[in-house]
Amino acid sequence: MLTAAVIGCGRMGAEPSGRFDGLIPSGWLPVSHAESFMQARNVNLVALAEINSERLEWAGKIYHINELFKNYNDLFKSISPDIIGVATRTPDKLRILQDACDCGVKGVYIEKPFANNLLDSRKILNKARDSSVIISYGVNRRYHLLYRQARDLIRAGEIGDLIEIIIEFGESPLLWSHPHSVDLIIFLSGQRPIAVQAELVDSTVIRSCDGLIDSDPIVSYAQFWLDGGVRGLIIRGGGCNVRVNGTHGSLEILSDGASIQLRKSNSSQKGYFLLQQTIFPVVQRSATVVAIEALVANVNGELVENISNDEIYFGMQMLWGCVFSHLQQGKKYLLAEMPDDLIITGRVGNVYA
Ligand SMILES: NC(=O)c1ccc[n+]([C@@H]2O[C@H](COP(=O)([O-])OP(=O)(O)OC[C@H]3O[C@@H](n4cnc5c(N)ncnc54)[C@H](O)[C@@H]3O)[C@@H](O)[C@H]2O)c1
Repeated sequence: MLTAAVIGCGRMGAEPSGRFDGLIPSGWLPVSHAESFMQARNVNLVALAEINSERLEWAGKIYHINELFKNYNDLFKSISPDIIGVATRTPDKLRILQDACDCGVKGVYIEKPFANNLLDSRKILNKARDSSVIISYGVNRRYHLLYRQARDLIRAGEIGDLIEIIIEFGESPLLWSHPHSVDLIIFLSGQRPIAVQAELVDSTVIRSCDGLIDSDPIVSYAQFWLDGGVRGLIIRGGGCNVRVNGTHGSLEILSDGASIQLRKSNSSQKGYFLLQQTIFPVVQRSATVVAIEALVANVNGELVENISNDEIYFGMQMLWGCVFSHLQQGKKYLLAEMPDDLIITGRVGNVYA
């Protein structure tokens, strides 16, 4: 049995998920790290770290955890957890990951977005690899069973060859919402992003000095080119739908995994997708629990599907590419040519993504 600790006991770290009961589709709850570690197999949640004393005490009571630390480095020294969940805001994550690599942690489930610039992302992913630390990432749609079923239908050729993936998560902030969008494009296509063209809401791109965007820009539109010919699109429409178009059909993941609508052409009428099927989830487990169990299995040396370090980095490149394209009047931008030192703080008011 592995041991785990959660660092950051805010909403994603420790807030009980009961507040969402009946309000969101199945397969998401529990969503907090602490609850998900409690529910996951082969791992025991043994400690919590949180800089806010009241919050720390509150979380300790809810989860019946006595090992409570204001400083996560004291937790590392005293408890030596095998796995940690990191649910702080992003500016704190890099230091925590570096210290985790130096303190013998074997697996990390870290909330999105991964970091505030590309250089840091690459450095820490390399350090994790060199320290044999497995990183998993809170882009949890790739762990949701209905999204996985959709990916498997696409891979099985149910809609022919894949053409494009359209993300309808509403006009929303780059670092808060769209780590999920870009990861879905990577996950559903299985391809590598190479270029981007994007339009952001200009008043939300706050350039306080050179090399620093001190905001979380709102995305109006983005188009990504992938190396196998697929395109990914982020549009303004909402509803949490993902539409996937293929040469012989289309597939929609509706309302964030409530159902899949599969449409295919029949043999006599190729131009219309007249064969239609709705697929509802059968047995659903929490995507976060699935993600944590995959990480636990990987740490135990088992081959269970998980996100790779490359996929984490590709997602970060896609987000940063949106900003570079926008800053160049929406020109198509090659990700390989992107400078890696631009900081995007993700700040909204006085909080960060
Ligand atoms: N995966 C998702 O769908 C999803 C959804 C919402 C938020 N998020 C991400 O999760 C992260 C956390 O968001 P949130 O809404 O839970 O934030 P939050 O502000 O509610 O919680 C963050 C907590 O971390 C604590 N903290 C900060 N620095 C710390 C440190 N050094 N050591 C220990 N504790 C520390 C804070 O005191 C706070 O309690 C953000 O990066 C956010 O973008 C992900």
